[in-house]
Amino acid sequence: MNNISIIILSAGFGTRMKSKTPKVLHKISGYAMLYYSIKEARKISNDVKVVLYHKHEMIKKEMDKYFSDIEYVIQDVENFPGTGGALKNINFTKDKILVLNGDMPLIDSKELEKFFNIDADIVMSIIKLNNPKGYGRVVIEDNEVVKIVEEKDATQSELNINNVNAGVYLFSKDILDKYIPMLSNNNKSKEYYLTDTVEMAKLDGKKIKPIFVNEENFKGVNSKFDLSCAEDIMQDRIKKELMMQGIYFRLPKTTYIEKSVKFEGECAIENGVCIYGNSLIKNSHIKAHCIIEDSTIINSSIGPIARIRPKSDIQDSHIGNFTEIKKSTLKGVKAGHLSYLGDSFIDEGTNVGAGTITCNYDGKKKYKTTIGKNVFIGSDTQIVAPVTIEDDVMIAAGTTVTKDIKKGSLAISRSPLKFIENFFYKFFGKK
Ligand code: UD1
Ligand code: CA
Repeated sequence: MNNISIIILSAGFGTRMKSKTPKVLHKISGYAMLYYSIKEARKISNDVKVVLYHKHEMIKKEMDKYFSDIEYVIQDVENFPGTGGALKNINFTKDKILVLNGDMPLIDSKELEKFFNIDADIVMSIIKLNNPKGYGRVVIEDNEVVKIVEEKDATQSELNINNVNAGVYLFSKDILDKYIPMLSNNNKSKEYYLTDTVEMAKLDGKKIKPIFVNEENFKGVNSKFDLSCAEDIMQDRIKKELMMQGIYFRLPKTTYIEKSVKFEGECAIENGVCIYGNSLIKNSHIKAHCIIEDSTIINSSIGPIARIRPKSDIQDSHIGNFTEIKKSTLKGVKAGHLSYLGDSFIDEGTNVGAGTITCNYDGKKKYKTTIGKNVFIGSDTQIVAPVTIEDDVMIAAGTTVTKDIKKGSLAISRSPLKFIENFFYKFFGKK
C-alpha cells in the first residue's frame, strides 16, 4: 500500500472531556488513545501524519516514546477551525488519503482495509444507530452519499436520520486538492467542515460510497463516559485474547490488565487483580486482589492482597497476603505475610517472617539490602539498610539488624524479658 497517506485528526480541544489533559492523551488500558490510531494506521501505510494544535508539544512527546516516523502538522486553528481546516495546509502527495480521528482507540486496521475494496472518489464510514444524537447525519440515496449534515445545522427531518457519519473517510487526491480550498465556514459553528467536501463532490457528479461499519470499532470518545465505555471494550478484548492463549481468569470483568502486560505458560489470575505496564507473568498464580506494576513474576504464587511495585523480579517464590515488594529480586523465597521488602536482593531458601521490614530509606537516600541463601528471618525483624546478610543465618524475632551478618550466625537484639509480680492488681487497685 505505497500509494496511501493516512491523516489522523487530533487538533480539537476536546472540550467535552472537561480536562486539562488533551483528549487524545487520555489513556485506555495503559496507552494514550492516539497511540492506538497511529499503531493501526502504521500497519497500512508508512506515511502517517497527525494534525495537532492544542498542547501539541505534550502530545508529540508522548507519541515519540512509541513512534519515530510520524509527521506532525500544526493546524492553523485561529484562522481555519474545524475538521476541514485541519487539512488546509497539507500537501497531498499520494493517490489515496485515509482520514481518521485520534479519538477512536478501538479502531482496527482490518476494518480500515475494507475501505480500499470499494471503488469511489470518496468512501465514507457510516454507523446505523437507534440514537444518532451527537453525530453528523448522512443522507443516502440509491446507495450513494448525497450529503452530511451536522447536528447543529440539521432540520427536524434530518435529525431523524439514523445513518451517522463515523468520521473515517477515504478520499482520492483530486477530491481533496479541489474541494479543501473551496470550503467555507458558513454554518452554526463557524467551522470549516471536512464533511462539506462530500456535498460539493456529489454536485459535481463524483462517486461517493458509504461503508457501513460497526459501532464497536469506530466509536469516538468525546466524554469521560465514552472513555469508560471504550475501556470496557478494550479490556474485554485483552482478556479474551489471553484466555484463548490459555490464561485462566476467575471473574475477568473484575480484573484490569494493561495492553502491555505479557503472559507465558500456564497462569491463573483471580478476581480483582490489576496488572500494569511492562509486566511479565509466567507459569504463576496471582491470587485475588493483587496489584502488580512493571514487574516479572515467574513460577510463583502471589497474594491474595499483595502489592508488587515496579522493577521487582520474583522467581520460584511464594508471596502471601499484605506483602509489599518494590524494586527487589527474590529467587526461591517465601514471604507469607505482612512484609515490606524494598531495594533488596533475597536468595534461595530464605524465609521472611511476618512483619519483616527492610528500612530502605533514611529520609534522604534509599539503600540496598542483600540477603543470602537459607536465611531464617524471625517475625518483626527490621533490617536497616545498607546491610548484607550472608547465607545460613538465623535472625531472632524482634531483631533490629543494623550491621552485616556473617555466614552461619544467629543475630538477636532484644532487651531482657522482666516480670513484675502482681503489677496488674496494684495498677488497677483490685483484689
Ligand atoms: C465529526 C464530524 C461528524 C461525525 C463525527 C464522528 C465534522 C464537521 N463532523 O464531528 O459528522 O459524526 O466527527 O465522530 O467533521 N479536529 C481537528 N481540528 C479541528 C477540529 C477537530 O483536528 O479544528 C479533530 C478532533 O481532534 C477529533 C476529530 O477531528 O479527533 C473530530 O472532531 P470532533 O470535534 O470530535 O468532531 P465531531 O463534532 O464529533
Ligand atoms: Ca468526535
